[in-house]
Amino acid sequence: MHRIAWLPGDGIGPEVCAAARTVLDAAGFAAEYIHGDIGWEFWRSEGEALPRRTVDLLRSTDCAFFGAITSKPGKDAERELAPHLQGKGLSYRSPIVRMRQLLDLYTCLRPARAFPANPLNYREGIDLVVFRENTEGMYIGVEFPRAPDSFYQEPGMARIPRHAAISIRSITPEGSRRIVRAAFEYAVRHGRRKVTAVHKANVLRATCGVFLEAAQEIAAQYPGIQFDTANVDAICMWLLKNPGNYDVIVTTNLFGDILSDLCAQLVGGMGFGYSGNIGDRYAVFEPTHGSAPKYAGQNKVNPLATILAAGMMLEWLGEREKAAEIEAAVARVVAEGAVRTYDLGGSATTEEMARAICARIGRPALAVR
Ligand SMILES: NC(=O)c1ccc[n+]([C@@H]2O[C@H](COP(=O)([O-])OP(=O)(O)OC[C@H]3O[C@@H](n4cnc5c(N)ncnc54)[C@H](O)[C@@H]3O)[C@@H](O)[C@H]2O)c1
Repeated sequence: MHRIAWLPGDGIGPEVCAAARTVLDAAGFAAEYIHGDIGWEFWRSEGEALPRRTVDLLRSTDCAFFGAITSKPGKDAERELAPHLQGKGLSYRSPIVRMRQLLDLYTCLRPARAFPANPLNYREGIDLVVFRENTEGMYIGVEFPRAPDSFYQEPGMARIPRHAAISIRSITPEGSRRIVRAAFEYAVRHGRRKVTAVHKANVLRATCGVFLEAAQEIAAQYPGIQFDTANVDAICMWLLKNPGNYDVIVTTNLFGDILSDLCAQLVGGMGFGYSGNIGDRYAVFEPTHGSAPKYAGQNKVNPLATILAAGMMLEWLGEREKAAEIEAAVARVVAEGAVRTYDLGGSATTEEMARAICARIGRPALAVR
């Protein structure tokens, strides 16, 4: 039996995870779910949003399922620490970024599929997949509130004002190759026609240059899949103009974060964006939305992103039929339109939406238009 670290987090995390769990049970997926502590409450009371015991849990399970957490900028986070932790030099670290780095979950896989008749679709027929590099780039966490003196020993650094804040962007050939390879392998396995590598190599010549060169090298190994490249700014316009021109998109960490939100909005927004953070041996599945504190505890938000993340988890675990059943049930409920949460223009609760999906699991899929 699969062992799954179950990390609901805070805000709306617990309610969307409960909805996904109902659907996993209805799909007949048998697993041992082991609760893990994560989120704001643990930052405040323990000074660590991803406690050590949760890291140990991740290391002893097959994969993890994560809801959502609240996080706040540095100074606000420090102010909210319990009194006994104040003034100890603790600084908030994003638990999701930490999980990605600790477990080397280098692929962030974010599908964006327009379910037929979703009233929130920007356009019907959109079916994109974004591969975001998840461990390098602007997210390595090396930042300086002021440029250190040692910087000025390097030529060219004199252009950086002494009071400038600095974030380091680090991109390696091997990190680039493995994310591009993951995108091509996905394209082959899922019958996708094209991979587009997104960069800004005309300006970020060193870092994006490495990424682009690696992408070209890997693309040459997959002659059966079309390959093209696009500047990140240009593709934002083209995705709105002609989303059908794209299929699988692969890019660096920050560009992928931004582009995948854009793609999620094309197919319904927060209620439909979900991801797998995938490494060679472990993976963490999640809806991409946050903890939406203003809706927490109201049984009101859309659980579909979380339910789709559960489907992706099943696929990763090799339970392809059950995964396909969940996706087909989501497609059916969206197309029927009888049960809709507020974001879709309805008044159904989170639980009602989950029950509607459960009721349609195992029924034949709707013909996709
Ligand atoms: N992976 C994560 O856990 C994650 C991701 C993003 C933000 N956050 C954190 O979440 C907190 C709130 O951030 P935010 O308000 O910028 O983003 P958010 O995604 O939590 O919510 C923004 C808005 O999107 C809508 N929304 C979100 N999820 C929805 C759902 N399932 N159904 C319907 N509508 C939904 C709501 O209108 C909500 O107010 C912050 O502390 C932020 O740091 C966490």
